[in-house]
Amino acid sequence: MRNIIETKKLCKTFSNGGVQQHVLRNIDLEIREGDFTVIMGASGAGKSTLLYALSGMDKPTLGDITFNDKLITKMNTDQLALFRRSNCGFVFQQTYLVDSMSVLDNVLSAALLVEKNKKTAVKKAKELLTAVDIDEPLWNKFPSQISGGEAQRVGIARALVNSPKLVFADEPTGALNSKTGKDVLDVLTRFNQKGQSIVMVTHDINSARRANRILYVKDGEIAGELELGAYVSGDKDRHQNLRDFLSGMGW
Ligand SMILES: Nc1ncnc2c1ncn2[C@@H]1O[C@H](COP(=O)(O)OP(=O)(O)OP(=O)(O)O)[C@@H](O)[C@H]1O
Ligand SMILES: [Mg+2]
Repeated sequence: MRNIIETKKLCKTFSNGGVQQHVLRNIDLEIREGDFTVIMGASGAGKSTLLYALSGMDKPTLGDITFNDKLITKMNTDQLALFRRSNCGFVFQQTYLVDSMSVLDNVLSAALLVEKNKKTAVKKAKELLTAVDIDEPLWNKFPSQISGGEAQRVGIARALVNSPKLVFADEPTGALNSKTGKDVLDVLTRFNQKGQSIVMVTHDINSARRANRILYVKDGEIAGELELGAYVSGDKDRHQNLRDFLSGMGW
């Protein structure tokens, strides 16, 4: 499988009141196309910072990132914004849906950023909502009228509507209970099984085992990685394998 992302000596340093904090230290990593990659690590280890750098949302201090054979670290802000729009989808713990827009319009407005034909954009938005199990009776509701789990699935439809090369998710189930979290993970797993590349940050072992590859971040470095292979539900060895890896990492 080809690499969709490669980083070389990626560094991010924050300066807080004159004190330098080296949050990412010389990270060399590859993200493979088609993988469901999970990033784990303790709070403050640099996971979100890494995700923001990989997705071009934030600029690293030093180092290079190649995304789909393009050196994104050399792009200016406008080029980067355009690049993100056509290559990346984002899902966060909070959905950031627009409260004054219906469920359908939230997805449609994202589709229209890329697809200028309104009819085609509407068709795409409806297809994606259906694919995340949000059916027609919900399309005209507003975000405040649906559940947290439904809202997160609408957020995923919005992230995927322009067929991004890669979806970045930062604790997408962090605000959900285990049942609704499972529905969200099922949706992500289904898309991955159809070929969607995903990079997800999570603290939750039940979310992490959906991945076929785990990267563990410790003090701004990749301290270890684990290949889990294709996800099979209820695989006890997989769960144990992941637990052993995490305890070896001091998790
Ligand atoms: N914009 C910023 N300015 C200054 N320091 C920052 C900034 N963003 C992050 N940091 C610092 O970088 C470190 C890593 O933060 P990051 O958000 O990447 O951690 P994380 O691994 O995602 O943690 P969590 O699991 O709690 O979300 C933290 O110590 C944080 O305070
Ligand atoms: Mg974080």
